[in-house]
Amino acid sequence: MGIEVAVEGLTMSFGKQNIWQDVSLTLPAGEVSVMLGPSGTGKTVFLKSLIGLLKPQQGRVLINGVDMVNSPEKDIYETRKLFGLMFQDGALFGSMTLFDNIAFPLREHTRKRESEIRRIVMERIELVGLLGAEGKLPGEISGGMRKRAGLARALVLDPQIVLCDEPDSGLDPVRTAYLSQLLIDLNARIDATMLIVTHNLDIAATVPDNMGMFFRRNLVTFGPREVLLTSEEPVVTQFLAGRREGPIGMSEEKDAATLAAEADAPAPHLTAGPRVIVPQLEPSPGLPPRAAVARRRERVLGMLDRLPPAARAAIQDTYARGGTAPTLTKPAPGSGS
Ligand SMILES: Nc1ncnc2c1ncn2[C@@H]1O[C@H](COP(=O)(O)OP(=O)(O)O)[C@@H](O)[C@H]1O
Ligand SMILES: [Mg+2]
Repeated sequence: MGIEVAVEGLTMSFGKQNIWQDVSLTLPAGEVSVMLGPSGTGKTVFLKSLIGLLKPQQGRVLINGVDMVNSPEKDIYETRKLFGLMFQDGALFGSMTLFDNIAFPLREHTRKRESEIRRIVMERIELVGLLGAEGKLPGEISGGMRKRAGLARALVLDPQIVLCDEPDSGLDPVRTAYLSQLLIDLNARIDATMLIVTHNLDIAATVPDNMGMFFRRNLVTFGPREVLLTSEEPVVTQFLAGRREGPIGMSEEKDAATLAAEADAPAPHLTAGPRVIVPQLEPSPGLPPRAAVARRRERVLGMLDRLPPAARAAIQDTYARGGTAPTLTKPAPGSGS
């Protein structure tokens, strides 16, 4: 089963540039979490801090008692082996076949025999749906296939924590839907703790158990998906709706005058009707159920009284319906559901 990642009071700067401050959150063991946030808010820096590749100035990242910020480098190195990291760009070696790319961590970090390596690599290739493409070079396949190859490579060392940095960038909507299902299926198969950084609203709405968002050098929120999906924070609603109107501007932040003008004249489509929480994806038929589902249910029901009313209602509704049916948090007048 996956391992909990506890982040406590993390603050990161590069020179005088503060990236984010006092970030605290827990990635619950085996659950899937999504991190949102405009470009440049430090999401990639956050992932690199979790695996100890970047060193925040303050705070701790605790995994099995090891602090990925402050523990001795040899402990950090050992703990890093628990991670599988899927980079933003796939980060494949252009001159190597997919097979050799995916085999690379095994050849680099283990003393496994070539026959064993072949077995593991082919298993991961099948898992991500790339059977038949193993002899191809990265330049000969589509962007979506390169992403999946990057995911396969992240999985060869049997990670207990999987980090995916914008796995959807450059994918069309259909490929993104396949990717969402692949991520949920992966969680069902290996029960790893997963954190996915994405801009994609479909992934955000359908994949995670938990969701967070970075904005203006802070973690705006992190918690059960229902909290963010029912949030009234302008930055959250703007991001989830993909609107121009709101605190997020082209250069990340808008000035006060622009915001005031928008508040005076809200665009008509902003007075939108009911906000619907779409159901979370379930593993494909034939796969085991996700082990995290039962744990998550206990955990979330145990924290209900500390959640905002809208989130509480949405969670109660979800579990009352067996956790699968659509939930209307703001029922349309007369809809009766
Ligand atoms: N190694 C580094 N040295 C200095 N600045 C960096 C470094 N890595 C990232 N940054 C800066 O940190 C900020 C956040 O970057 P990043 O984490 O890539 O944002 P995101 O992934 O949310 O788009 C950017 O302003 C970037 O220039
Ligand atoms: Mg990034």
